[in-house]
This record gives sequence, structure tokens and C-alpha cells, in this order.
Amino acid sequence: MSLIEKLSTVKSMITHRRPIRDLLRSYLFFLENPDKSAWGSITEEDEKGIEKAVKLASNYHGPIIEIGALFGHTTNLIASLKGKDVPLIAVENFSWNPFSLPVEAHRQFTRRTLRYVLENCSTQLFEGNAEDFYSSNASLKPSMIFIDAWHEYDSVKKDIERAVATGCPVISGHDYTEIHPGVIMAVKEAFGDRVLLYGSVWIHHNERDE
Ligand SMILES: C[S@@+](CC[C@H](N)C(=O)[O-])C[C@H]1O[C@@H](n2cnc3c(N)ncnc32)[C@H](O)[C@@H]1O
Repeated sequence: MSLIEKLSTVKSMITHRRPIRDLLRSYLFFLENPDKSAWGSITEEDEKGIEKAVKLASNYHGPIIEIGALFGHTTNLIASLKGKDVPLIAVENFSWNPFSLPVEAHRQFTRRTLRYVLENCSTQLFEGNAEDFYSSNASLKPSMIFIDAWHEYDSVKKDIERAVATGCPVISGHDYTEIHPGVIMAVKEAFGDRVLLYGSVWIHHNERDE
């Protein structure tokens, strides 16, 4: 590498220092906590929780909603477990990803990962905030809502309140673990001990007459 190329690399690193710093932080976090999260998605243990939640939801009418799709791993999992004609709507605002990809690259990555289910499995991607999704779909009666967006207490509390307001019988979410105390606090406050735990996936089932 010539001196000019080296200087140009250093210049690029200085220009993009913020996403590079965030990328490094994420990378170190995931390297040091391989049992807690699979690069921002769920672990194999957590998958059993999603399977259970989708099974419970199959007793009810209505779409399945996912809040926070990231790259579509859980969206694909839910799509593979649900009935083919059950609508699934994944809500994603592209505000975070572990690799610090710019918004447009994140959007394209997720759409391409989800291509098959978007075209063949009654699945849609709502590109926007959870709040906007609920306000533009006020009459929706979901059979299941899976919450996996920001994990701070206030955000999870709001996500749970919005889910409860729909009358949804199966409300579930991710990252019920000591590294996300806000999730534990918000879930306990909303549902007490009336939650099932599978790894870090929590499920609250409130039977609904159909
Ligand atoms: C932990 S990741 C989701 C992981 C994904 N469920 C999986 O396991 O593969 C959280 C995602 O929620 C998205 N997000 C955060 N706040 C959101 C909001 N208010 N509305 C929609 N998406 C949001 C972020 O952009 C990020 O992609």
C-alpha cells in the first residue's frame, strides 16, 4: 500500500469514525456474549419460545405482528411456523443494526433476506416506527405480537401498552435477561409472574374468546 493510499484510508476512518466506533462496540459485545444474542437476533434456545408463542397464537384469528425485524431472522422463523395464510407484518424503522450499516443498506439487506416470505408467505414489511404502524392500523386485532425493538424500560413499556391495547391474546418478546434490565422491569410491571420464559423469550397468554 502506497503512502497516499494509507493516508486516504486514515482520512476515511476519521470521516467515518462514529459508525466504526459503534461497529467495534457491537462486535466486541457479541464476541464476549455469544450465549446471550446471535448478532442482535435470537439464540437457538430462544427459538423454542417463538415456536411456543406461534402455537398458542394458532388458536386465534388475526395477523401476527413483529415489532423490530432487524435483518428478518425472526420474521423468517415466524413465517416458517405459522399457517401459510396467516398474515405476518414485520415492523422495522431501520434505526439500529449491529454492523452500523447505513439505513438504505440495512433496508435492502432485510428486504432481500425476506424476499421469499414477502412473495410467498402472506408476509409484509412495514417500513416505519411502531407508533405509526399502530396509529395507521387502529382496528387491527392481532393473534400475536412479538416485541423486539429498543430494550430500554420506557420503550418496552410503550411497546407492551400498545400491544395490550389491541386485545392481543399472545404478547411475547425478546431479551428478558439481566443484560437488559429494562425489559425485565417492563414485563414484570405489566404482567407480574404471568409469563412463560424460554431462554430470553417471554410470553404472556391472555385467553380471548373468538
Ligand atoms: C434487536 S433488533 C430485532 C431483532 C430481530 N427480531 C431478530 O431477532 O432477528 C431491534 C430492531 O428494532 C428496530 N426498531 C427499534 N425501534 C423501533 C421502532 N420504534 N419501530 C420499529 N422498529 C424499531 C431496530 O431498527 C432493530 O432493527
